[in-house]
Amino acid sequence: MRVLVIGSGGREHALVWKLASSPRVEKLYCAPGNPGIGEIAECVKLDINDNMALVRFASEHKIDLTVVGPEAPLANGIVDQFTANGLKIFGPTQQAALIEGSKSFAKDLMEKYNIPTAGYAVFTDAESAKAYIKQHGAPVVVKADGLAAGKGVIVAMTIEEALSGIDAIMCDKAFGAAGSQVVVEDYLSGEEASVLAFTDGKTIVPMVAAQDHKRIFDGDKGPNTGGMGAYAPAPVVTDAIMQQVVAEVLQPAIAAMEKEGCPYRGCLYAGLMINADGPKVIEFNARFGDPETQVVLPLLESDLTVIMEACIDGNLADTEVKWKDGAAVCVVLAAQGYPSAYRKGDVISGLNQATEQGALIFHAGTAKPGEHITTSGGRVLGVTAVASDLLNAVNKTYDAVGRITFNGMQYRRDIAYRALKK
Ligand code: AMP
Ligand code: GLY
Repeated sequence: MRVLVIGSGGREHALVWKLASSPRVEKLYCAPGNPGIGEIAECVKLDINDNMALVRFASEHKIDLTVVGPEAPLANGIVDQFTANGLKIFGPTQQAALIEGSKSFAKDLMEKYNIPTAGYAVFTDAESAKAYIKQHGAPVVVKADGLAAGKGVIVAMTIEEALSGIDAIMCDKAFGAAGSQVVVEDYLSGEEASVLAFTDGKTIVPMVAAQDHKRIFDGDKGPNTGGMGAYAPAPVVTDAIMQQVVAEVLQPAIAAMEKEGCPYRGCLYAGLMINADGPKVIEFNARFGDPETQVVLPLLESDLTVIMEACIDGNLADTEVKWKDGAAVCVVLAAQGYPSAYRKGDVISGLNQATEQGALIFHAGTAKPGEHITTSGGRVLGVTAVASDLLNAVNKTYDAVGRITFNGMQYRRDIAYRALKK
């Protein structure tokens, strides 16, 4: 079959890598891809937000399966357009993608269907939001309603921080139109985990649980990022917790979406806070996580094309989804300055040596302007290794990381520390 992946980051490199291992795949394209992806797929220069250009490409190149990586094309209705043109595509419709694209939609859905999440209130004007915050007290969490590239969340330890968060989102429009509405949420304590699941709209098949590391510095210090590393399986999600996540979060969410007239197909990502009360939803995403995908897919034994087709065709219940034993770790190598303004254009060396260590190198923000691969994004590479257990996977990953250098390279030294402590 002929497959097209949409996107250009580490998540998409991992998707392409896994799809490339399927004996069913004869040709693999990625739009727009990156230099790492270019080693295993044909990269095509297409605007990922131009639905019609993508539809035309898929029709002309007789694509049998398209896989969407990032949220923007989903929110832009790419799945609806492909489907209307008779093309198979993995991901939720525009309406269903609101589960990520509008935090108030997601919160209202969870409230209506009793899915455990933090208490909240929604505001469209700054004054009422501030009055609520003063009455509520701190800690409290302020979130821009719309898509803000993972940055529209302020976890405020004081009332003042929360109030200036309201100013930034609603008055200064730091996240543009995403901030015309805010969600103010109760603060949750506990340990976070990400449970991604395949779904055909009726059946839910969870993937191995992963844990992301969102802060830039070791010990979870400093500003939030897109994710500095991940590992799977995450032991905080015990078998009992996973059963709860399926029964109390994922299954009800899928049933709710169907009841609301927007059945959800694709990958549903539940970002969870886990404490003595059990799991609570921090957010839903309408796509695979990044970097979670870089540790989850290397542990998937089954053919991803078969699972994705089953999600589209509605027969996931009859499809085997098998996982490997062992553990996977991904360490993100980021550019100096990330998550603020960052350096670009530095030559990366040691990629082959890292691969020789048995690591998988997923490109996130790289370019190949000439002979050399250079940095071109905030998150530059995801170095991943799989081993029989977590400690070995951590060691193997950091051995490979030690081979790679570029000017200003920064990364966390403590990926998986919570699990190793247990
Ligand atoms: P989100 O973009 O909603 O995933 O939020 C980004 C990060 O903010 C999460 O990964 C959490 O670390 C933190 N966060 C979000 N909501 C809450 C909450 N209600 N309580 C505590 N931390 C939160
Ligand atoms: N790693 C967080 C996310 O993909 O949203």
